[in-house]
Amino acid sequence: MKGIKFYSISSYIPDKVVTNDDMSRIVDTNDEWIRTRTGIERRHFASDCTNVSMAVRAAEKALSQSGIDPEKLCCVVVASFTSEIHSPSVACLVQRELGLPDHVMAFDINAACSGFIYGLGIVRGLLMQNEDCYALLVGSEKLSNFTNFEDRSTCVLFGDGAGAAVLGLDERAFYSEYGAHGDDSLIYCGVGLKDTPMEPLRMNGGEVFKFAVEHIEYVINKLLEKSGLTIDDIDHVVCHQANKRIISNIARKMKSAEKFFVDIEEFGNTSSASIPIALDDMNRRGMLKRGDKIICVGFGGGLTWGGVLTEW
Ligand code: UT7
Repeated sequence: MKGIKFYSISSYIPDKVVTNDDMSRIVDTNDEWIRTRTGIERRHFASDCTNVSMAVRAAEKALSQSGIDPEKLCCVVVASFTSEIHSPSVACLVQRELGLPDHVMAFDINAACSGFIYGLGIVRGLLMQNEDCYALLVGSEKLSNFTNFEDRSTCVLFGDGAGAAVLGLDERAFYSEYGAHGDDSLIYCGVGLKDTPMEPLRMNGGEVFKFAVEHIEYVINKLLEKSGLTIDDIDHVVCHQANKRIISNIARKMKSAEKFFVDIEEFGNTSSASIPIALDDMNRRGMLKRGDKIICVGFGGGLTWGGVLTEW
């Protein structure tokens, strides 16, 4: 079994802080509702940069922190569904801006909020074809590009940001679990075409909440079953940060509240960027030690879900 080693983790968070009080000046909402229903206190909007430039900044930091020679990269993969352009991919523009060599494969994946976790599985597969190389994996979302600022049930939830990691293979433990259930009724976001306006993100929050709780629990149990471990053996569980109540719900069921990391209060829901941002946040707080067993779980539009059990 070949595992994945994180050679670095980094994030780029845009400067513009938007508090719940700021949101209450845009739609009919208030700090108390947002805080108690979601755990969100503020989010960051990328007013002066694009999805691509956030991806570039996070990737640049991850690469320089990793100490890996860019010549040794075999791929740059960006998980995103909120970019301004369809082609070239965000990954190709990251490649250009970072001056990465031409032998690097560059492409984007769209698995919405499960994107970074899907990316870990895809990158691992690519690394297994060439064990001497490394991968740059980015989750970058400018959700404010696709948010409906007239819909209070969704616009208060999202934030912009990017997270990135340089990854390589090694012998540490790695287990994964993936799935999807094709559906466009619960979460939908339509791009604008020549004769059709953009359809901003809409969501049936209540149904997605139920889907999330059910699937996070399912994925964690599958990972524990595959690894032969119990929740007591796990040091940290890092779920996609969509709602603090979703995470508390699972933590309560697993009787392990202290293992479940939450930083949604600061960033809101940043979709595919939320897990690498959380890992970077934990790392900067000194919470991660080499060898720690971590479960990461993503879920979201698609509907998609996925989880990995890895060692730090
Ligand atoms: O990243 C992709 C995955 N996404 C998720 O996992 C999101 C999952 N869903 C959720 O997090 C929650 O369902 C929401 C936070 C989106 C909504 O929370 P909820 O407890 O399910 O609220 P609700 O939609 O049932 O709405 C309850 C009430 C409604 O009023 P009435 O009909 O009871 O009078 C809403 O109109 O809250 C109202 N409401 C608001 N009030 C103040 C909805 N949004 C707001 C708001 N401010 N922003």
